[in-house]
Amino acid sequence: MNTQNPINICRQTADDHAAVETLLDEAFGMDRQTKASYRLREGEQPLDGLAFVTKDNNGEITGCISFWKILIGDQHCEAVLLGPLAVAPDHQGEGLGKALMQYGISRVRNNGHRLILLVGDAPYYARAGFRQVPVGKIVFPGPVDYARLLYLELEAGAMQEMRGLVIAPGRA
Ligand SMILES: CC(C)(COP(=O)(O)OP(=O)(O)OC[C@H]1O[C@@H](n2cnc3c(N)ncnc32)[C@H](O)[C@@H]1OP(=O)(O)O)[C@@H](O)C(=O)NCCC(=O)NCCS
Repeated sequence: MNTQNPINICRQTADDHAAVETLLDEAFGMDRQTKASYRLREGEQPLDGLAFVTKDNNGEITGCISFWKILIGDQHCEAVLLGPLAVAPDHQGEGLGKALMQYGISRVRNNGHRLILLVGDAPYYARAGFRQVPVGKIVFPGPVDYARLLYLELEAGAMQEMRGLVIAPGRA
């Protein structure tokens, strides 16, 4: 945990785009765009005001998180896809990931969203309350390890009505 400096979280702007892409390559590797979550984000934009970065004292981007609208099942129930969340390798373990997640989730909640989904490491996200989606309940439009498909209810019971295929709004 970084106890020397407060964590500086700001909204991501268009000027941050290139630095965020470099950070994601460093954190996830160059093959990251083959993942199913990328298919859902392709051609879409993050939810308005729901993409954030952390910056160090020199203004360099050290972490990022974004949230995207998705639709689930025949009823097109609205939910939010979290990701990618990444922290620059030389800043990992300083609490940036946790801070970005807590801040981002609180903003998503304030905007009235009811459910967040993500594909990620369950032991890490369990710390923020994420649980595994029951296998077979929600289907991703591409190969995904369903042990890594996780959800967080922002409204009690929101998961109950979510069933079926996840699609991007642009494909609805
Ligand atoms: C995963 C990631 C976002 C975490 O951000 P971070 O700022 O390094 O994490 P924090 O400082 O908030 O938390 C650190 C704690 O999380 C744990 N942790 C980090 N990554 C973890 C993982 N993949 N699984 C389980 N625990 C993890 C650390 O061991 C540490 O535990 P401690 O508090 O008991 O010492 C960041 O390490 C990252 O970008 N990694 C590369 C991408 C990646 O592997 N993502 C996997 C998740 S999808």
